[in-house]
Amino acid sequence: KDKAEAKNPDVLDIPYLGAISAYLRDAAPEAVRKAIEGAKKDEILSPSYPYRAEMKKKDYEAAMEKLQVELVKMSWGLQKTGQRLVVLFEGRDAAGKGGTIERLRENLNPRQCSIVALPKPTERQATQWYFQRYVERLPAAGEITLFDRSWYNRGVVEHVFGFCTPEQRGHFFNQLPGFEKMLVDEGIVLIKLWLSVDRAEQLKRFLDREKDPLKQWKLSWIDVEGLKKWDEYTMAIAETLERSDTVHAPWTVVRSDDKDRARLAAIRTVLLRVDYPGKDAAAIGDVDPEICGGINLVDG
Ligand code: ADP
Ligand code: AMP
Ligand code: MLT
Repeated sequence: KDKAEAKNPDVLDIPYLGAISAYLRDAAPEAVRKAIEGAKKDEILSPSYPYRAEMKKKDYEAAMEKLQVELVKMSWGLQKTGQRLVVLFEGRDAAGKGGTIERLRENLNPRQCSIVALPKPTERQATQWYFQRYVERLPAAGEITLFDRSWYNRGVVEHVFGFCTPEQRGHFFNQLPGFEKMLVDEGIVLIKLWLSVDRAEQLKRFLDREKDPLKQWKLSWIDVEGLKKWDEYTMAIAETLERSDTVHAPWTVVRSDDKDRARLAAIRTVLLRVDYPGKDAAAIGDVDPEICGGINLVDG
């Protein structure tokens, strides 16, 4: 992989490649730049994260292997009972949504477990009921739908970038609790995961994307422009979580500065919420309450 980087630093013709390292050099807050430049291998950059170092690979792999078996049992159970499962993955850019989703579905049947990552709405969709295109993708009996971003775009990215009007956003917040309540009353198991990442860690991940030819495609114009909008995001996120953390559809926040701990916590959260035959509580283990819990855990 290092060889590939050296040989071919930018395989794709992306015009804003370089904007991330320029931001680190010229515009990043001093504390963020220092945290990144002084970082030791495996060090966690967020000062408020409860651990100083990433978890050991061996411990991660041992725990993950058990969870993978439980996920397969859970899917088998869903097929038998016909339960429908929806998991929303939300969080800032580079919070680790994609990677967590990959680990969750890697041993599942793609016919049963699908990933929905919708692009920006088409002109026609923009005139429809905001929730409409998401409703079309909800699961049938026995299916699992993993949303990589969701209707929560309207609360956060659309607001921060001005892609929706304040009226549209207000209307969205008014409809939201009722919309989610309908899903839950319908019998759909709805799990809402918010992956929370610190500012220095986010920038570090963008820098990795910028120089890794296998990850450059992940870097979007929104990521680059979003760097300057950290505080707008923070406010939009706080308001969104506040207004959508309901009794019938509460959020689970996963602090994702350590990707491996976050992946374990996210998958455990899903397994603990679903009933299936042969569920093995010891194999699942406990979620770590210091990195996984209610909306008060959001950082930044
Ligand atoms: P991702 O982080 O999911 O790879 P981006 O960072 O490029 O994608 O975009 C973040 C989100 O903003 C995506 O869900 C995308 O569909 C949405 N988005 C981008 N442009 C628009 C737009 N003009 N109107 C509404 N949503 C948009
Ligand atoms: P408000 O700040 O809530 O009054 O937002 C007024 C309008 O500006 C809304 O349409 C927002 O989506 C949009 N908006 C808010 N913050 C930003 C921003 N940082 N950049 C671009 N548009 C924004
Ligand atoms: C994200 O942007 O949060 C993810 O989709 C990408 C990742 O795995 O870090």
